[in-house]
Formats: sequence, structure tokens, C-alpha cells
Amino acid sequence: MLIENISSLQQKMISAFLLIVYLILVTSPFSAGECVICDYFVLVGEPMAVRCPIVTFPELHSDYNLTWYKNGSITPVTTEKQARIHQRGGLLWFIPARLEDSGLYECDVRRLNHSSKKSINLTVFKNDDGLCFNGKMKFEQKVMTTHTGKIICPDLEDFRDEDNSEPEVHWYKECKPGFLEDKRLALAVGENAVLIHSVTVQDRGNYTCRMVYTHMGKQYNVSRTVSLEVKESPQQIRPEFIYPKNNTIEVDLGTHVVMECNISSGINGLIPFWTVNDDDVDSFDSTYKEQFYEEGMPHGLTVSGTKFNISKVKIKDYMYTFFCHVMYGTQQMTAYIKLERPAPSIQGYLIGGGVSLVFLVFFAVFVYKIFKIDIVLWYRSSCHPLLGKEVSDGKIYDAYVLYPKNRVSCLYSSDIFALKILPEVLERQCGYNLFIFGRDDLPGEAVISIVDEKIRQSRRVIVVLVPEPSFYSILEDASEKQLAVYNALTHDGIKVILIELEKIQDYASMPESIKYIKQKHGAIRWKGDFSENSCSASTRFWKNVRYHMPSRTHASSSGLHLLPKGFSSPQITSEE
Ligand SMILES: *[C@@H]1O[C@H](CO)[C@@H](O)[C@H](O)[C@H]1NC(C)=O
Ligand SMILES: *[C@@H]1O[C@H](CO)[C@@H](O)[C@H](O)[C@H]1NC(C)=O
Ligand SMILES: *[C@@H]1O[C@H](CO)[C@@H](O)[C@H](O)[C@H]1NC(C)=O
Ligand SMILES: *[C@@H]1O[C@H](CO)[C@@H](O)[C@H](O)[C@H]1NC(C)=O
Ligand SMILES: *[C@@H]1O[C@H](CO)[C@@H](O)[C@H](O)[C@H]1NC(C)=O
Ligand SMILES: *[C@@H]1O[C@H](CO)[C@@H](O)[C@H](O)[C@H]1NC(C)=O
Ligand SMILES: *[C@@H]1O[C@H](CO)[C@@H](O)[C@H](O)[C@H]1NC(C)=O
Ligand SMILES: *[C@@H]1O[C@H](CO)[C@@H](O)[C@H](O)[C@H]1NC(C)=O
Ligand SMILES: *[C@@H]1O[C@H](CO)[C@@H](O)[C@H](O)[C@H]1NC(C)=O
Repeated sequence: MLIENISSLQQKMISAFLLIVYLILVTSPFSAGECVICDYFVLVGEPMAVRCPIVTFPELHSDYNLTWYKNGSITPVTTEKQARIHQRGGLLWFIPARLEDSGLYECDVRRLNHSSKKSINLTVFKNDDGLCFNGKMKFEQKVMTTHTGKIICPDLEDFRDEDNSEPEVHWYKECKPGFLEDKRLALAVGENAVLIHSVTVQDRGNYTCRMVYTHMGKQYNVSRTVSLEVKESPQQIRPEFIYPKNNTIEVDLGTHVVMECNISSGINGLIPFWTVNDDDVDSFDSTYKEQFYEEGMPHGLTVSGTKFNISKVKIKDYMYTFFCHVMYGTQQMTAYIKLERPAPSIQGYLIGGGVSLVFLVFFAVFVYKIFKIDIVLWYRSSCHPLLGKEVSDGKIYDAYVLYPKNRVSCLYSSDIFALKILPEVLERQCGYNLFIFGRDDLPGEAVISIVDEKIRQSRRVIVVLVPEPSFYSILEDASEKQLAVYNALTHDGIKVILIELEKIQDYASMPESIKYIKQKHGAIRWKGDFSENSCSASTRFWKNVRYHMPSRTHASSSGLHLLPKGFSSPQITSEE
């Protein structure tokens, strides 16, 4: 045992091996001896073989004489094998050592032209109380958790039996046998060592190995104690995928995607790799060139990664799943990523749908505004018969017509309009029933009662307006009539249709009721002349008037005879 001092005991066995290797490499059996007086230790009762520090491998060379002396003695230590202390093969043997053997010894190396001496200090220890070893005589060894560790029973080279067979080594943990029953532990064949699979911190402790050495027919115990330290290295950190995480990503066709796979672990040299369709990615597409990298991170972590570019996503990229693998021990870890075409967003549809709906509504409103009259008239004519029997509102006339009499100018004739054109279109063509004041009133009837009664029996009041303010004198003429009309116009809720025979610039001089109606409902302006063309119900003007007139059927003529003069058809209609 080559140990420089007590503290050197704590060196790993490996450093001893390194020294040995070093010595072999320099091919010299001689060593300067790095210690002034080298320390050796042995347990009392156990055999010991001391090597001269300057001739570490006496058996390799023979061109020198090596002699051992006890401190201060000029007589060499005997070479008699039976002697408890003797020298043999360049080694100083104590079989077994006793406490009084502690002390200095000297090896003398003589060659033809040169000689040298070296002292060693042997200390014989007793076991610690209650233990099978002495705590000052421990070999320190280290293993890493989760790895397979090896405990080596050191320094047994000189104790091969005479037949040179492998010694039988017994193992103890904290001086107790039986720990090898753990399935993780196994004896290493031919190595005087114990293997520990998946080391845990519980594996630390004092391991003692003992072999039996037979000398001259007597058996002796040779024991070594290893203090096993278990290191939790950063290598404990299991590899873990940072990315991918078995996820899908949405990428558009033709876009550029960096396919990156990275793993954090405590292990250097992990090489993750991508596969797709059970093959390497570059077999799948020769442009998919993987690039590996490794980065050190704080806390002993390492990020190992691989990435490749998909410069333009193709259809086939959506069809397969991309797997990233990494080998961890004998285990393969896998994570995948799948590319997906983005689904057209529902939101987009909703917005688009909403916008078009709003547009549609606006369009419908717009169309209705423009074609309102035509639509209503068409509806009345086409759908009205389908609506079935209508409830009578008890009224006789569709409209009560009020017009200024005998107003004639170059542009208009209120008489012609009211007595000829109006009945022609509304009565003859459209089948309305009108009460035209001045045509249908019976002479002698009291004006007030007629007006009042007839207006009540009418669904509309048509007032024909001329620009000439004096016209309203007709109303002024018959103040009673005016009162009735006024009442009707403002209070009875009967709809009034104002027809301007000519553009009226100024309503200021008009009666209040007319002004009110004009302001509220507007007026329809007569744009025609008094020719045949203007007497068609399908002109814009008449459509407008018909629109304001109540809806009516051109239905049966039953009960015609019951109706007063001027009625062209029965009126079983209702308000719009
Ligand atoms: C070693 O000792 C033997 C006698 O014991 C002697 O014959 C021999 O020459 C010595 N060798 C050397 C290298 O001194
Ligand atoms: C070793 O020998 C020297 C003299 O040769 C003596 O002074 C010394 O005390 C001895 N030491 C031991 C430990 O025997
Ligand atoms: C002693 O002899 C050896 C060969 O035996 C030689 O290599 C060495 O250099 C010599 N040393 C001295 C000091 O003469
Ligand atoms: C020899 O070793 C023992 C124990 O380590 C120590 O007490 C003693 O002083 C050492 N002797 C010499 C001469 O170094
Ligand atoms: C190993 O032995 C030492 C005494 O030398 C003792 O203090 C220590 O607790 C032991 N280790 C274990 C893990 O039992
Ligand atoms: C060797 O050690 C074992 C266990 O400690 C013990 O039973 C045995 O008697 C020892 N043998 C000798 C020769 O000391
Ligand atoms: C691991 O890969 C992801 C995805 O590409 C990336 O965002 C992240 O930065 C990478 N992490 C490291 C430490 O390289
Ligand atoms: C991916 O493309 C970028 C440029 O877009 C380039 O810098 C990078 O080196 C490429 N990586 C690989 C792995 O080809
Ligand atoms: C990801 O998928 C692989 C197999 O495809 C599976 O082995 C792994 O456990 C999955 N990882 C996660 C985090 O789900």
C-alpha cells in the first residue's frame, strides 16, 4: 500500500492506479518516492506486504539487490518464509502484523554503480470499537446516483494464494453481511468488486471486503474498508423535452417553419433526432437537413437540440407526424409535433356573415324606400285576394274629395281634375268609391251635416290644392263646412291626401289644418297635363295616390243596387 500520509487515505483508489500506470509508462522500476517517509497501515492480526517506495515493481527487474532493514538495524530482515516478519520478492511481509510492529523500516536498493535507501513508517491499527474496521484506514470511492457504480476491494494484489487462484472475497456493509441480497447489487466476476445498479443515496456507507490468505498452511484475514460516497450529479436530471410537447401547430401552406426539438438534461452528448414516416427527415425530404447543437445552462443543465428548416410547407408535411427521439441509457424517449393547416376562422365567417347581413338589410331597406309604392301596390293586387274575407269597417266611401271650384288657369283646372280625371282613374280604373263634394251632394242638404257625415263615412280625405290663396275662400265661405273639415282633418284620425295641382311655394296663407298635414305627411304634386296619358293609373303620380288610398279589392259587385249613387262596387275593405 502506497500512501503518503493519513490524509492520502482519502484518495480514490483510482489515483493509485494512475500512479501505477504512470510508473509503467516510464518503464522504470525506480521511483524517487514522493514521500520523505511513506506511511503504511495495517490492521492488527492481518498480513501485510510492504513495497519499497523507490522500487514499486521489484518483480519486473532483477539488476539490483533490494534489502529491508528494521530502523537502525544493520542486520537485514530475514528471508525465512516461516518467520512472522520476513522479506520475500522485494517485499517486506508481516504475517500477521502485531501492534508492536509499528515503526520505521528501511529498504536499501543496490545496483552495480549506485545505491539508495528509503524509510517507511508502518502503523498497526486496532479495529474501532464494535466495528470490523478502523476509521482511519478507509479507502474513499465515489459513485453517481442512477448510474451503475462499482465498489472495488483494493490492494489485494500481493495476497494471491499459492495456486494463484482468485481469492474468495466476502463483503460487509457497516460490518454486516447480507446486503448483496439487494437485486441491484451483484459481484463483479474476476474483479473483487461489487456492482450497484441505479445507485441511490442509500448506497453510501462503509463497505468492508475480506478475503482469506493462506500462508504456510495457516489462514489469515485480509480486509479493506471502502467508504462509499454517493454523488448526486447533474446527470441525475432526466432528459426532458422542452419542445415539442406532442402538440400540433397551425402553419399555412408555403410558409417557412423551423422544426426544433430540444431537450434539457444533466447529460452532455445527447443527440436528439427527427423522424417522419418511420424514416429520417432527410430521407423524407432531402432539403430537411438536421442541425445539432448543445448548450450549457446554469445548474449543470444541458440543452441538446436538433432543428431543420421547412422552407416551404408542403401538403405532405400535413400528412405525417414528426417525431423527435433521444436515447437515454437503453431507453428511447419520443415526442412529436404535427403540422396542421389553419382552419378558416369561424370568427371570419361570423364577421363576413354579419357584414353581409347588415348590408342586405340596408339594401332591402333601400330598395323598399325606392320601390315602396310599387311593392305595396303589387302586394295589394296579388296578395289581397288571398287574405280572405275582411271585416268591414262600416265606411261607404274610399275618399272624400274636396277641391276648389272653377279655378282655371293656363296650367290647371281644378274642376276638370276633380270631376273628370280623379273619377276616371280612381273610380273607373281602380274601382274606388269617391264622394266628390259638388258632384255627389244632394241640393238642399245642410252643408254641415253632409260634410260631417260623408267624411265620417270615408276612409280618406283628398284635398286638391291650388296655389291661389283665394281658393280657400271656399272654406271661408262656408265656415261651418270649414269647421267640419277642420275637425275631420285634425281629430277624427282620417288620413288626408294633399294633391297640389301646381307647386305651392308658400303655405303661409293656408289654413292651419292644411299646413299641419302638409308638414306631417307631405303632399303629392300633380305633374301631368290633362291629356289621356295623365289618366293612366300606372303613372307615378297615380301610383303615389293609390298608395295613400286604402287597399281595396276589385271584387264582386253584389249589393251594388243597395249603394247610393256613384258607387261602382261594394266596398268591403279595411285600412292598410
Ligand atoms: C546481489 O547480491 C548477490 C549476493 O547476495 C551478488 O552476487 C550480486 O552481485 C548482487 N547484485 C548486485 C546488483 O549488487
Ligand atoms: C530509528 O533509528 C534511529 C537511529 O537509527 C533512532 O534514532 C530512532 O529513534 C528510531 N526510530 C524508531 C521509531 O525506532
Ligand atoms: C548506473 O548503471 C545503469 C545501468 O545499469 C545506468 O543506466 C546508469 O546511468 C548508471 N548510473 C550512474 C550514476 O552511473
Ligand atoms: C509514523 O506514523 C505514526 C502514525 O501516523 C506517527 O504517529 C509517527 O509520528 C510516525 N513516525 C514518523 C517517524 O514519521
Ligand atoms: C462509516 O463509518 C464511520 C466511522 O468510521 C461512521 O462514523 C459512519 O457513520 C459510517 N457511515 C455510515 C454511512 O454508516
Ligand atoms: C476472519 O474473520 C471472520 C469474520 O470476522 C472470523 O469469523 C474469522 O475467525 C477470522 N479468521 C481469522 C483467521 O482470523
Ligand atoms: C427550444 O425550442 C423551442 C422551440 O423551437 C424554442 O422556442 C426554445 O427557445 C428552445 N430552447 C432552447 C433553450 O434552445
Ligand atoms: C434555417 O434557415 C435560416 C434562415 O432562414 C438559417 O439561418 C438557418 O441556418 C437554417 N437552419 C437550418 C438547420 O438549416
Ligand atoms: C408523447 O408521445 C409519445 C409517443 O408518441 C409518448 O411516448 C410520450 O410519453 C408523449 N409525451 C407526453 C408528454 O405526452
